[in-house]
Amino acid sequence: MKDFLSILDKRTGKSYDVPISDGTIRAMDLRQIKTDPEDFGLMTYDPAFTNTASCRSAITFIDGDRGILRYRGYPIEELAEKCDFLQVAYLLLFGELPAEDQYKEWKDKITLHTMIHENLKKFMEGFRHDAHPMGMFVSTVAALSTFYPEAREVKNRQSRKLQIMRLIGKVPTIAAYAYRHSLGLPYVYPDNSLGYAENFLNMLWKMTEPKYTPNPVLARALDILFILHADHEQNCSTNAMRSVGSSQADPYLSLSAAASALAGPLHGGANEEVLRMLDEIGSVNSIPAFIEKVKSGECKLMGFGHRVYKNYDPRARIIKKAAEDVFEVTGVNPKLEIAKELERIALNDEYFIKRKLYPNVDFYSGIIYQAMGFHPEMFTVLFAIPRTVGWLAQWQELIEDPEQKIARPRQIFTGHEIRHVEREQEASNVVVAAR
Ligand code: ACO
Repeated sequence: MKDFLSILDKRTGKSYDVPISDGTIRAMDLRQIKTDPEDFGLMTYDPAFTNTASCRSAITFIDGDRGILRYRGYPIEELAEKCDFLQVAYLLLFGELPAEDQYKEWKDKITLHTMIHENLKKFMEGFRHDAHPMGMFVSTVAALSTFYPEAREVKNRQSRKLQIMRLIGKVPTIAAYAYRHSLGLPYVYPDNSLGYAENFLNMLWKMTEPKYTPNPVLARALDILFILHADHEQNCSTNAMRSVGSSQADPYLSLSAAASALAGPLHGGANEEVLRMLDEIGSVNSIPAFIEKVKSGECKLMGFGHRVYKNYDPRARIIKKAAEDVFEVTGVNPKLEIAKELERIALNDEYFIKRKLYPNVDFYSGIIYQAMGFHPEMFTVLFAIPRTVGWLAQWQELIEDPEQKIARPRQIFTGHEIRHVEREQEASNVVVAAR
């Protein structure tokens, strides 16, 4: 018999044939494997989902061993070179690159949704002056849920599309307001005559001039960075989006959860940590001592390593090139020299070679963002803007997938067997009837 896995349970002597499709077996097929009728049945144990597919997805393909990343079949390199972010957003969400008229309509609709309600602006004003922009972003996205109660109708396709357009339109505005807040500057309203990345630059950096003119090189570099960060299949934050979305929470709440997951230093927060690390290293001369610290397990080389890529992250290669364009405008970030030398040493060191640790997307992105004038606390927010598209594409796929239901993993219980509250442990304010 082909395409079956034969399992012999040596506990009982029974054998089972479990179908294999797409290189996987269904975990539920193992449940029939029991020692006796009372037995719950066999489960798999996979902390951190290192070898478990949680969904079927047609959005993003990664071959981590070969360093390949494709959105809907298109290589990331081609998309970064030939497309703009809103085209790629359309591709991720609807499966095809938009035709000219579709693109125009899409762009107009996203632009229409760039404004946020004045009350939301006031909500943001309530944060402390030194609030971390990622905390502001997460909370404000969640607060959007209270403005659009119809978003709860997650099974309604039209409503879903409207919320998707709202979110893509509004996240740059929220991100820019969080940035201006951190600097104590007044918020800048969107300028709908500008492109997506250009308008974001306008909301970040416009001062007293009547109309802001974005630098085209910086706007394009940011647009490329947005393309590179738009989706990355079932990573930690996407898993959060799908998991929370599976309870049929509205997309604002689900996306806020996904952004929270992104904020962690092992995920999107790594770009902020890379800059801190480069600051700590300080100069090229201190790199060998720092590498020794990493190898002895004292700290990690932030921006290196990936659960899926065991090769050079293709996004890191494109970012390196985008960095050169940005530095022509802004001047070279002195941290670049340290980063390049760190990379050179790490890629030739047995510790990193053996563990297949290569630079990931976060290794160089922070250096570009800093050269553009962002402070490190903003870096993860800059990641969250484009990833909003990926989260929404994955959420939409989840909602439309008839096989999906509320996410609910199992556990291996390691706690106590049943035990009882002793007399002396009882709370004194509880009235126990008829003792
Ligand atoms: N520096 C030093 N050693 C590392 C690093 C690193 N950055 N990453 C992994 N290792 C080592 C681990 O200590 C482990 O060594 P061991 O086998 O001797 O115990 C081995 O490499 C395997 O690492 P794991 O932790 O098992 O890999 P995992 O897939 O669980 O983690 C992760 C992936 C979280 C990305 C990890 O590489 C890491 O922490 N990197 C630094 C943070 C970072 O850059 N995160 C951004 C990832 S990209 C993104 O989310 C957008």
